[in-house]
Amino acid sequence: VTPTKVRYSPLGDQFADPEAVFTALRALVASGDFTLGKVVGQFERDFAAMVGTRHAIGVGSGTDAIKVALRAVHVGQGDHVITTANTFWATAGAICETGATPIFIDCDERFQMDVAQLEAAITPQTKAIVPVHIAGDIGDMPAIMAIARRHGLPVIEDACQSLMASFDGQAAGTFGDAAAFSFHPLKIINVWGDAGAVVTNTDPVATRCRLLRNHGLRNRDEMEILGYNTRLDSVQAVVGSWILPQTPHIVANRRRNAAYLDAGLKDIPGVTLPPRDPRAISSWLLYMFSAERRDALLAWLLARGIEAKVHYPIPLYRQQALLHLGYAAGSFPVTDRHAQCLITLPVDQHLSTDALDIMIQAIAEFYGSTP
Ligand SMILES: Cc1ncc(COP(=O)(O)O)c(C=O)c1O
Repeated sequence: VTPTKVRYSPLGDQFADPEAVFTALRALVASGDFTLGKVVGQFERDFAAMVGTRHAIGVGSGTDAIKVALRAVHVGQGDHVITTANTFWATAGAICETGATPIFIDCDERFQMDVAQLEAAITPQTKAIVPVHIAGDIGDMPAIMAIARRHGLPVIEDACQSLMASFDGQAAGTFGDAAAFSFHPLKIINVWGDAGAVVTNTDPVATRCRLLRNHGLRNRDEMEILGYNTRLDSVQAVVGSWILPQTPHIVANRRRNAAYLDAGLKDIPGVTLPPRDPRAISSWLLYMFSAERRDALLAWLLARGIEAKVHYPIPLYRQQALLHLGYAAGSFPVTDRHAQCLITLPVDQHLSTDALDIMIQAIAEFYGSTP
């Protein structure tokens, strides 16, 4: 077995000293305040303040955040929801759970929704648009919002990967009618399991999200609408509150590491960095680039103990679970090409300069150049 030289997951470092969390958890246990109590409310207020929205509603996962947000804007059975073909499984899963059908359009070279394809995809059955902020980055949200508003369609941002990203100085999660965030262990901020949140500036949307995440209950005895049990867990809210103040530092370090990788990789033949839109500031959840002979490079890196990954080798629209949607292979050429040529390197806040150099060196050696 090859010893790991550059690990993918930063969680060991992230939670190397969990004593402060344990202390807060002891207080939680002593209080018995386990269900939508004080710690959840505090996390929601602090998270909303950080994103810059009036409301945050804590839920059980990022997937549930998308589902709850869609139902909060009245998406349901028989509706169509436009999203991107290159997204993570959860986006389509959440849309389907509401009873709606995902309608895919292709992504652009920056992995974000191809705005040029959006308007043509809108039909009378379209009930919402879900742009997905992939890799920590963000697409042209002002253009997407302009099209959506022209057609009177709500926009739910899938911001699960892109906490603290911004476009033209405006934060991810503040453009749409609502946005979904995830605190899954491999997201920008992470808890000890699953958790997520919906954010919104619209009071009625917030009210409906609060109903939907708790069985549709208006109060203890009255159920107003059909909802779910997807409350933010108090234990995870405690972990979330511990990590939340670290977010600016986490994102700043990810940005610094991405800039270092950019500088080290940009001149290596065989490597093509994606175009950088100066209006978009990424929080760099994933460092992805296009690699010639990608699979051979992946094997080369893994053999050298570098835990590179591929996001995602089989596009969503070609997954067995979604074949009933009827998309033919080749329907989304950019998504398909990315599935063949993109490779992902770790870029997290805990990587050392040595680790970054090891990756750059190994890639340069693979392509026969010296960095
Ligand atoms: C783009 C995207 N949407 C939604 C999700 C779902 O989040 P969760 O795993 O918290 O359900 C994820 C990640 O898992 C994601 O990457």
